[in-house]
Amino acid sequence: MSASLTDFTAALPKAELHVHIEGTLEPELMFALAKRNQIDIPFKSVDEVRTAYRFTQLQDFLDIYYEGAKVLQREEDFRDLAMAYFDRAAADTVRHAEIFFDPQTHTARGIPFDVVMKGFLSAMEEAERTHGLTTKLILCFLRHLDEDDAFKTLRMSAPWQDRIVGVGLDSSEMGHPPRKFAKVFAAATEMGFKRVAHAGEEGPPEYVREALDILKVHRLDHGNRALEDADLTARLAREAMTLTVCPLSNLKLCVVQTREDHPLPLMLAQGLRATINSDDPAYFGGYINDNYAALAGRLDRDDFAAIARNSFLGSFLTDAEVSAHLKVLDAYLER
Ligand code: ADE
Ligand code: ZN
Repeated sequence: MSASLTDFTAALPKAELHVHIEGTLEPELMFALAKRNQIDIPFKSVDEVRTAYRFTQLQDFLDIYYEGAKVLQREEDFRDLAMAYFDRAAADTVRHAEIFFDPQTHTARGIPFDVVMKGFLSAMEEAERTHGLTTKLILCFLRHLDEDDAFKTLRMSAPWQDRIVGVGLDSSEMGHPPRKFAKVFAAATEMGFKRVAHAGEEGPPEYVREALDILKVHRLDHGNRALEDADLTARLAREAMTLTVCPLSNLKLCVVQTREDHPLPLMLAQGLRATINSDDPAYFGGYINDNYAALAGRLDRDDFAAIARNSFLGSFLTDAEVSAHLKVLDAYLER
């Protein structure tokens, strides 16, 4: 990419809408926390960890990702994890971030839900204070577990309801269709939560339809395979459904073979409200600006400006907050 386009996207005001906070655990912090908490990890060095990050599909990554999360034990660990991400995101001119967390990954190991929440909330307050970075939390249910387990997690979230904006669905997609979680999403809706779901990352267009029709999502995470179905694609465009697309993740997990094959330019051409996000940046080789940079050569300034605009439009901020961000974005574009 030309230096000026790199500089342009690097300083573009943007929101990040698809990042798993457990996926921001850098190997250095993994080692530091393993030492602090005297946890054994199956790696001898930071280099060995990075070498292990070769994946041919989503499940290869998830196995390592859940293993790495075991070093997170105490409130300060969750705080340090989130703060490291917020510092990094602010450096990439992220103005607002809506972060996923996977409570079941922690509660299944005996870590209380409250410990996780207190750590994240402390970092979220500091991010706003020190960087002016606003943040929201999205609680994801692990779809490889059953719906009863998701219900247990939803009940645990009740005391923290006003600090969590929505619920999501992540983990192993194939064989775990959105319809498996129809009842818990309905209950979350009753409680006032917004809804998002991973769909069409590895799963077929039918899973995307279920996310729309059964879970009634406000946003679709990934959504790549929706493009295989012309009617579905037209519907997503008509409904101005936000897609949280993750280019480097798609490459690392072999959802897409090369940068030249990445469907994001096609998504924009089809009128889809696509955004660019990092997913699990510590595992996939880059934070949000690296993900923007990955598609340079295939997109121009106007495309990137539209993507940044989409990121605010697709957020769970109020209309007034979105307008304020878009004003800042427009001022940047005029410069
Ligand atoms: N959990 C963390 N990253 C994920 C991804 N890309 N897909 C599904 N579940 C995830
Ligand atoms: Zn994801």
